[in-house]
Amino acid sequence: MERSSATCSTLRSPEWAAVSSHYGAPLSAILPDSMRAIVVKDHATGATELVRRPVPKPKPGQALVRVAFAPVNPNDLLASRGRYEVRRPVGAVLGFEGSGVVVGGSGMMARLMRGRRVAFGAGEDGGSWAEYSVADATQCLPLRGGVTDEQGATLLTNPITATVLLQQARREGHRVILQAGAAGALGTMMARLAPTMGLTMVHLVRSEEQVAWLRGVGAEHVIRSDQADFEQALVALCHRLGATLALDPVAGPLTGTLLRALVEGGVVRIYGALSGAPPVGDTDELLFRGKRIEGFTMYDWVKSTSMLGQLLTAMRAQGQLGGALATELRGAVPLEEHAVALQEYQRSMSGGKLLFDALAGAGTSAG
Ligand SMILES: NC(=O)c1ccc[n+]([C@@H]2O[C@H](COP(=O)([O-])OP(=O)(O)OC[C@H]3O[C@@H](n4cnc5c(N)ncnc54)[C@H](OP(=O)(O)O)[C@@H]3O)[C@@H](O)[C@H]2O)c1
Repeated sequence: MERSSATCSTLRSPEWAAVSSHYGAPLSAILPDSMRAIVVKDHATGATELVRRPVPKPKPGQALVRVAFAPVNPNDLLASRGRYEVRRPVGAVLGFEGSGVVVGGSGMMARLMRGRRVAFGAGEDGGSWAEYSVADATQCLPLRGGVTDEQGATLLTNPITATVLLQQARREGHRVILQAGAAGALGTMMARLAPTMGLTMVHLVRSEEQVAWLRGVGAEHVIRSDQADFEQALVALCHRLGATLALDPVAGPLTGTLLRALVEGGVVRIYGALSGAPPVGDTDELLFRGKRIEGFTMYDWVKSTSMLGQLLTAMRAQGQLGGALATELRGAVPLEEHAVALQEYQRSMSGGKLLFDALAGAGTSAG
């Protein structure tokens, strides 16, 4: 499928109008008892199924969100296989982020958000691949008028991660950064953002199509890993430019390749596990060239950053959703099409983000 950052509706008004016309009425008067949701079926295969579930009840401090869109991200695939830090047991609703309208909740913040269009991070007992989800009210960010539901659905993961990874790199004094998996959503955002922050990037991809994609967004240094002599070219380029940091979403043997490409004292920062394999690194590089391999997750950033700091970063990222931090979309599909959609995404992850459209097919039965 073609990817585009083209946007669809900002608000699909008929349904929201129906919800908002009921404000003031008790929630029980406007909410259905049950909803459609995509849940984990089997950790061994990562299989999912569409089921009917009771609409979740918000706990104190949580908002209830009528979901509009929810993206498929690599951590969802890990969660469906029981291999992600945040557990999704068999039967749990999948999806870590999305957009929608707050239709209820418990506590002052949730009440203040009622009726607002938000980006939200689904709580442990939530799951955004559903018609309704619960989220801590602190994990709901009101969306500005010009931001579409589709772009808003992707705000809280990749745009903020891209910002934080590059800000941290610059703060640490890195000026030339190598990245693997560069043609994906997060890699593309960093490719566009880096020059605006005075950073040079070397991008590693695995096909000619991906080279063309990155050149199209303005990237200068792009190398293909699917060619026999690529490692020599990568080492030569990184040494010529003086690359001191590698951002690695893949791990496995590629970590060793990135480590070798960096100049002395370089750091490989692993932030994903796309290969599914443990990182491999040459001990000589670690012992005699002062290089390091380390990990990064946004969970640590959240823990070490004040609420105000998080809010400002998220608001700034929201302001760039129409530019450097836009997510290229391959399309939106109804919840019913989960199995085919997940297969298509895994076949070619660089083809743009796939969204579940939780409003499509509303009122139909599941299973
Ligand atoms: N640590 C954190 O806090 C944090 C936060 C956000 C995201 N992440 C991680 O960031 C990574 C990228 O996320 P995304 O949403 O940008 O993903 P995405 O849009 O699906 O893109 C993934 C990219 O990685 C490439 N890729 C997949 N498997 C690969 C492999 N084995 N070797 C080399 N390249 C491979 C894909 O290329 P093909 O098209 O050729 O498959 C694609 O270009 C994920 O690992 C995600 O978990 C981490």
